[in-house]
Amino acid sequence: MRRKCDIESCIARPWSKNNRGAKGMKDERVWQVLGELEELEKREDLEEGLWRITKEVGLLFNMILRHSGAKRILEVGTSSGYSTLFLADAARANGGKVVTCEFSPFKIKLAKEMFAKAGLEEQIELIEGNALETVDALEGPWDFVFLDGMKDEYVFYLSSIWPKVRPGGLVIADNMISHKGVLGIEAYKFTVDMLDDASSVTVPIGSGDLFTCKVEEE
Ligand SMILES: C[S@@+](CC[C@H](N)C(=O)[O-])C[C@H]1O[C@@H](n2cnc3c(N)ncnc32)[C@H](O)[C@@H]1O
Repeated sequence: MRRKCDIESCIARPWSKNNRGAKGMKDERVWQVLGELEELEKREDLEEGLWRITKEVGLLFNMILRHSGAKRILEVGTSSGYSTLFLADAARANGGKVVTCEFSPFKIKLAKEMFAKAGLEEQIELIEGNALETVDALEGPWDFVFLDGMKDEYVFYLSSIWPKVRPGGLVIADNMISHKGVLGIEAYKFTVDMLDDASSVTVPIGSGDLFTCKVEEE
């Protein structure tokens, strides 16, 4: 007998196991840490705010990464490591790795604890320090890059990283809708538009993500 789809209960429990990407992220340790970070950010006595992507965005990244077989993943802006966990879970499934950059000592300590707790520390290399000074030296090629640091630094990261993105690779920049009109964001969109070997689209999910795919030059 076919089960009736109980839409109301799905809506009432949006982040239950129903919405975990059934064939994707199954590791309970990772889900527990993600839940812990969601609770932690509600605390008012934190040394620094923990900005993060939404769970839908994390699941979307995880699905894209898993199904594209991405192995070389770069993130600028680790914070608590919330987004990194979605990336690293997919990297593990593909036998790959995530390199993530952060300069706040408080967040570096927190993220490292969370990576270990989630059992994903082997898949993650946390580059400590100012990404403006560390990103240039990182070797590509990159399959997937997530930009989520300071908005006025996005153009710098793109110019440094783009030559190292493999054809077919993706660069995703966050806060395109939430920070619309901010100089750094508008400059980033303009720079992406100028690229001859790129195809891009803004996806209205979370804070708005600009997906830019490297295409072969004609
Ligand atoms: C929006 S938060 C990242 C959130 C994280 N990606 C997530 O979704 O869980 C941005 C982070 O970038 C870090 N950051 C900003 N500029 C940076 C820089 N130049 N070098 C290293 N980290 C930087 C900040 O300390 C902050 O933790």
